Amino acid sequence: MKLFDVYKRIDTEIIKGKERFVWDAKGNQYLDMFGGHAVISIGHLHPHYMDRLTSQLKHLGFYSNSVRLSLQEQLAEKLGKVCGKENHQLFLCNSGAEANENALKLASFANGRKKIIAFTGAFHGRTSLAVATTDNPAIIAPVNETDNVIFLSHNDIQALEETFAKYKEQISSVIIEGIQGVSGIYISKPEFLQRIRTLCNAYGAYFIGDAVQCGYGRTGKFFAHDYACVEADIYTVAKGMGNGFPIAGLIISPKFTAKTGMLGTTFGGNPLACASALAVLEIFEEENLIENALHIGDYLKTELEKFTEIKEVRGKGLMIGIELLGRYKDLRKNLINKHRIITGEAGQHVIRLLPALNITKGEADLFLTAIKSELK
Ligand SMILES: Cc1ncc(COP(=O)(O)O)c(C=O)c1O
Repeated sequence: MKLFDVYKRIDTEIIKGKERFVWDAKGNQYLDMFGGHAVISIGHLHPHYMDRLTSQLKHLGFYSNSVRLSLQEQLAEKLGKVCGKENHQLFLCNSGAEANENALKLASFANGRKKIIAFTGAFHGRTSLAVATTDNPAIIAPVNETDNVIFLSHNDIQALEETFAKYKEQISSVIIEGIQGVSGIYISKPEFLQRIRTLCNAYGAYFIGDAVQCGYGRTGKFFAHDYACVEADIYTVAKGMGNGFPIAGLIISPKFTAKTGMLGTTFGGNPLACASALAVLEIFEEENLIENALHIGDYLKTELEKFTEIKEVRGKGLMIGIELLGRYKDLRKNLINKHRIITGEAGQHVIRLLPALNITKGEADLFLTAIKSELK
């Protein structure tokens, strides 16, 4: 059998990782400025993470949600403390798309409505509602097309107000990333997020904060939405949560009441997933990783902004988009092949940096030195 060939891949086979570095099958070492797509939050092969997972494996690898799994309660308690939402509720699932799918459903269950507001440039995943709220017609199958989703221009307050005025109590929820990732690192403006909050309050709609890529401490605050000092009704988290072990979650405000059977999953919240997520949060606290993300992110951004050859540097903390002038379209390729540095991309002209939150200043300097030698 062959693989179903849907991915655009870097032509390198990665077979080993340690801290912020990975190695290919030929033994070449790479600095990982991409964190396996914002997933590697505590670095590769962190000793505490490995201990937690291996000792869990020796006790119980799996049981489903048909029994009590106290690790889920431990995770809910710890996560509540770290993200500052101790009075919220946690629903565990397996991927960012599944988290958004469930968040949109939960909002609709709760207010009995159908319309959803989403924004240009948004990416919320590939399951049916998540993809319907994603601004990319190429990945929306005919069966996913729906009249229930209204797309508005990102950060356009007037369009938002007019849409609420038009659809009023038909609007179930508004879904928005604190910083758009896939489209090229675009910040949702504080005043825009604040207006979403007041309009949701006024019309009884729910605010869903997609924190799958921009959350979990990556931007220097637990949720990128926190920069606007607003609280969403449901946050969705995934990527960095398990440092590579698939786990995702909905952080749900006390406004919502759970009903048996309303949401569910076989694998969500399994013991290994919970052990991995607990290990990540323990390391966050022990090593002050959210502060480090802010500190090194600020350093990288300040240094990158000094290059006149760069059109724009966007983002916060360790979620950085570098918009290049057209003549540097090969920069990402050169970083991999000549400097052995892996980065992400958004379109042809934006390089995305999403490294582990414990990246050091020395590692950031390795990246900056490579950039300096390429931008001439
Ligand atoms: C903001 C955002 N939401 C949702 C998703 C979907 O997550 P997953 O690929 O885990 O389904 C992604 C993935 O890149 C994302 O960036």
